[in-house]
Amino acid sequence: MNSEMFEFVAPRLIFGNGCIKEAGVVAEELGATKVFIVTDKGIVKAGLLEELKKSLEDSDLNYEIWDKVSSNPKDNETEQIAKAYKEAEANLLMGIGGGSAMDAAKAAGILVTNKEPINQYEGCNKFKNPIPALIAIPTTSGTGSEASMWCVITDTRRNAKMSLGGPGMLPKVALVDPALTKGLPPDLTAGTGMDALSHAVESYLSTGSIPPSDALALHSLRLIAENLPLAVANGENMEARTNMALASFEANLAASNTGCGAVHSLGHQLTTDFGVHHGISMGIMMPYVMQFNMIGCMARMRDIAEAMGKDTSMMTHRETALQAAVTIYELQKDIGLATNLKQVGVKEDDIPKISEKASLDVDMSTNPRRATVEDIKMIYEMALEENIEK
Ligand SMILES: [Fe+2]
Repeated sequence: MNSEMFEFVAPRLIFGNGCIKEAGVVAEELGATKVFIVTDKGIVKAGLLEELKKSLEDSDLNYEIWDKVSSNPKDNETEQIAKAYKEAEANLLMGIGGGSAMDAAKAAGILVTNKEPINQYEGCNKFKNPIPALIAIPTTSGTGSEASMWCVITDTRRNAKMSLGGPGMLPKVALVDPALTKGLPPDLTAGTGMDALSHAVESYLSTGSIPPSDALALHSLRLIAENLPLAVANGENMEARTNMALASFEANLAASNTGCGAVHSLGHQLTTDFGVHHGISMGIMMPYVMQFNMIGCMARMRDIAEAMGKDTSMMTHRETALQAAVTIYELQKDIGLATNLKQVGVKEDDIPKISEKASLDVDMSTNPRRATVEDIKMIYEMALEENIEK
């Protein structure tokens, strides 16, 4: 490695089956008297708040619940949540759910301690005051928002995703209980798992990669390659679920410190313009973006192929790098996910507009190969026609 200074930011992690029971004690340790829980209706309906509520009650903590987070949280929503937090006179935030609930809690936290509107804080370290203490509790194994100092919010004026980040937004505690993911159906297990995989891949290939993030990314790649198919095949396989929960945390802890890349930039447009699930968008774009990126990160793509179980001993650098993309493409086929843009409703005519938008996405800045709008169009065309080099 070179001798440049780097910084690595991580939350306190409490991990393991049943650790949701610790929520009350942990909140007390952080000085909480009233907890504001940010979540969505699906989590409430699935009964995933029950253990949490009991834990808070056992610690004699008051709480209030905001259960209206949407699947792609919007700027105006975060203002409403911040207002409700202040009115509740709470002194600790809790985000429980997929990425949306945890991201909404983070962005609302910015508006508790900083002025509206949220849109002015797009980018890194744009807000001044840190958010209130936050405990992040994931119920899927994919977004890894619990590990991250970033959140993604929809800017309703531009219909575009904004990434906002900085150490002041990092959860104080990530409480990762794999048992909470047990009821997730196979399609969501697969989709969220691809998001975790995209964080590991993009962090490892990022121009901002650093030794601790590399170690985390490679370990999570191994865990995902071995355990994602098992978790999709049988959601009751708790060993696979536990490994995926750890992989998701590790992958986004890596990505939080390095930035992502063009997979996220191109994938974001599928979520905003076509309503495609975030993880599925990442999965579709990943092999095509990786093949485009290959000349900028050939040795690192070989590492990815090896971490995912490919025997590369008889291959050239180029062949192994290509195999990293092919391995991910095959994994997606195996677990029943879309592998081209036509399957999610994108047409040829849509490509110019989404290419322009993708070129402006903040994640492009850490992609290992510079990409013009024409390059991005070409990548989308490859994904439209499922044109993958094997
Ligand atoms: Fe992601």
